[in-house]
Amino acid sequence: MSKKHGYPGIFITLEGGDGTGKSTQARLLAEFIEEKRGEAPLLTREPGGAPGADEIRELILTGEPERWDVVGETLLFYASRRNHLRLTVWPALERGEWVISDRFADSTMAYQGYGNQLGPDKVQMIHDVSVGQFEPDLTIILDIDPAKGIARTQGRTNNEDRFEKMDLSVHERMRDGFYDIAKKNSHRCVIIDVDRDIDTIQNDLRQIVMERLFS
Ligand code: TYD
Repeated sequence: MSKKHGYPGIFITLEGGDGTGKSTQARLLAEFIEEKRGEAPLLTREPGGAPGADEIRELILTGEPERWDVVGETLLFYASRRNHLRLTVWPALERGEWVISDRFADSTMAYQGYGNQLGPDKVQMIHDVSVGQFEPDLTIILDIDPAKGIARTQGRTNNEDRFEKMDLSVHERMRDGFYDIAKKNSHRCVIIDVDRDIDTIQNDLRQIVMERLFS
């Protein structure tokens, strides 16, 4: 039983700026956990992770940056998150499963709260209404110089690039936001430097998971 949320399962979140390689790391970490536990974790992502949440994902991530203002966007992220929690994450944790989410609430705090300057207090208010006290057992924040991260996303061919069109200064504020979140939530957050090769980064992740969740 997790100390933090009371469900028998374990909830791990991967966070970080664009182009930090979260999805690859999440997949490799899922393989490791499956080897260790003999049961595959549920690998999910935000925005998305449930049918309604996936529809909201499409609304948020496509189109021009001005399509939503920061309040509207934050509400959409939280509507999507609530749907993801209710229909996917909480039921899996209740069944005792391990869940890995590629992004969760710290992304909204960093991107909308710090990057797009809604401010941490307002994001926290919306968070409290939508999510309450629930929080991950472990959050791994993948960190890189935003200019390098953005450069890594340039080859992508899909149209979900609304955020990548934003100014570098926004991405720099988001990075500071993640540092702040990690400082305030040191009981669950670890920052990893991802300006290194995939295997070295993954080894760090596995070590953290072993120390924090398997010992
Ligand atoms: P995604 O394709 O998942 O990007 P990545 O591979 O970088 O995770 O798109 C998610 C985008 O939405 C990404 O730019 C971060 C942004 N985002 C927010 O601004 N707030 C949020 O709460 C979440 C979950 C994502």
